[in-house]
Amino acid sequence: VFPLGAGQPLAGPAQSQTVLHRIPVHTIFGSHPEEGVSAIAISQDAKHLATISTGAVQRVCVWKWTLPTEKPLCSTELRPDFGYQDYVLFNPQNPHEFISNSKTQVIFYLWVSRDMGSRTLLCGSAPSLSLPVGRFSQSVFHFNTTQALTGTSAGKLVVWDHTDPYACPQEQRDKPHSMRATKVVSLQEESITVLTVLESFIVTGDVKGQIKFYNGRLQFLTCYSHSKAGSIRSISFCKPHPGPVGAASCTACTQPFTPRNFILSTSDATVFRVATDGMSFEKLMEEAKQAVNAIACHPRQACLALGSHCGLLKVWDYEQREYLVSRIFPEASIQCLSYDPEGYFLAAGFTNGSVHILDAISLQSCCKELRFSQGPVTHVSFSHDSEYFATADETYTVTVYKRVLQNGSRCWEHFAELCSHYKPIRSILFGVQLDSNEPRLLSLGEDRHLVEYDLNTSSKGHLEVLHRNRIEQIAVPLCLAWYPQLSNESFILTANSCYKMKLYNTTTKLCR
Ligand SMILES: *[C@@H]1O[C@H](CO)[C@@H](O)[C@H](O)[C@H]1NC(C)=O
Ligand SMILES: *[C@@H]1O[C@H](CO)[C@@H](O)[C@H](O)[C@H]1NC(C)=O
Ligand SMILES: *[C@@H]1O[C@H](CO)[C@@H](O)[C@H](O)[C@H]1NC(C)=O
Ligand SMILES: *[C@@H]1O[C@H](CO)[C@@H](O)[C@H](O)[C@H]1NC(C)=O
Ligand SMILES: *[C@@H]1O[C@H](CO)[C@@H](O)[C@H](O)[C@H]1NC(C)=O
Ligand SMILES: *[C@@H]1O[C@H](CO)[C@@H](O)[C@H](O)[C@H]1NC(C)=O
Repeated sequence: VFPLGAGQPLAGPAQSQTVLHRIPVHTIFGSHPEEGVSAIAISQDAKHLATISTGAVQRVCVWKWTLPTEKPLCSTELRPDFGYQDYVLFNPQNPHEFISNSKTQVIFYLWVSRDMGSRTLLCGSAPSLSLPVGRFSQSVFHFNTTQALTGTSAGKLVVWDHTDPYACPQEQRDKPHSMRATKVVSLQEESITVLTVLESFIVTGDVKGQIKFYNGRLQFLTCYSHSKAGSIRSISFCKPHPGPVGAASCTACTQPFTPRNFILSTSDATVFRVATDGMSFEKLMEEAKQAVNAIACHPRQACLALGSHCGLLKVWDYEQREYLVSRIFPEASIQCLSYDPEGYFLAAGFTNGSVHILDAISLQSCCKELRFSQGPVTHVSFSHDSEYFATADETYTVTVYKRVLQNGSRCWEHFAELCSHYKPIRSILFGVQLDSNEPRLLSLGEDRHLVEYDLNTSSKGHLEVLHRNRIEQIAVPLCLAWYPQLSNESFILTANSCYKMKLYNTTTKLCR
């Protein structure tokens, strides 16, 4: 987390290539030993941190992070029936006060120093609410009243306020200060996912991708939306414009109300920049909305290709940390990727059984789509001389493709296939014959069979098996690789479900 105002979003296209390199100034290593951190906040004065641990019994800690100690100033444990607290925020007006919430419970905290600062007490209060308001999303402190607000999945805002002045009696740690719900305001039908404060505005983001601005009395001011924006996950405002900031008194002014530009991120992994004067949404980046199942490293350059089940294929330069090129395959899921040994081509296998051979630079298809697998393609691999490439699929079949020249350009066409296993195929592996420079091909299945194919005697439509060896009795072999040639004997390396790695002689397939 950055203190408010320090972690500025990129200001616009001109700066969109700027990479901010941040370095850690202090690290607390064992903040919540054995557990993770579910939520963190930094106080407005940037001196204090509040953290909440993961785990069944959550611990809330307050840290003065500049101290050279690994101990929090104060901490408390939360009752599990308060629900999993995953959001925390300091009161910008008072670093001694913060708020957290789960889907079902909002908790107010106050920490105070006692006995000349030698002891610090952390008190929490968890007001109950009898009305049905939906699930809580995020909470904020009002900018100039004693209120706090919580957004809900039913489109409501719960307004909390003090019933008594602050009190944190020394021995009554269970009842620190009394906040209670004073009002529930129905703002909209749609579920509110984000709630934040900008100067003197309350801002909400919702599941429909709408961002709405309200004044301090929760009167609606304006709304920004875009048909392509999904459920809002966060809103980050740009630096204030230099010059007069007339925003604070805008309820009275006649000028149309224009807040600062902002950056949005949505739950479908997209980031937008919103220019508030023109109401324009500019897509800054789009990442995979679903699992990234395929990854391939370029053999010669610092490039990494990532393929997702949402159909997004994206290539990054991992040294410059720059995104290079991407392509979206609509309504298709990428399951595996492989570069050819020279790095000119990228083969992509899809869950619908198709294989595309793409130009490694432009990602344009350079051959006709190959549709020979009956099930999702799980593995794809090229031979060392690119003469062949092979796929494995979920129907336990290995399919081999052979290089041809199509109108003067290099392509691969279907050669032969074989349903060579009766359980899922875990690996396919090309290698080189010891005595010639011919490629050899092996596959390994959960059926414990290591199958070597005879590419030399195979003919179109007929894939020959050279050897079939059962290499395990009880354990299930899981992966396969060539062992580096360190002696005169050459080996295949496998790893199995019993945590063992084994070396097999590549000719006799005997375990060494
Ligand atoms: C809070 O801010 C609003 C708008 O900026 C202003 O009208 C109101 O008087 C303020 N209230 C307090 C208690 O300062
Ligand atoms: C599978 O998806 C790919 C990528 O979008 C597409 O080109 C191909 O036509 C699909 N194949 C089938 C058999 O639907
Ligand atoms: C080769 O080129 C000719 C003419 O440009 C075209 O008609 C033909 O479809 C091409 N063949 C393939 C396999 O792309
Ligand atoms: C491949 O087959 C040809 C003849 O069919 C033979 O001359 C050659 O030695 C074989 N190569 C290998 C690597 O087995
Ligand atoms: C490897 O083979 C070479 C030649 O066949 C032989 O001279 C050498 O001693 C062998 N090395 C080992 C470690 O067996
Ligand atoms: C496999 O093992 C045999 C017998 O130990 C040995 O003669 C042969 O060189 C080995 N093969 C390879 C490829 O290392």
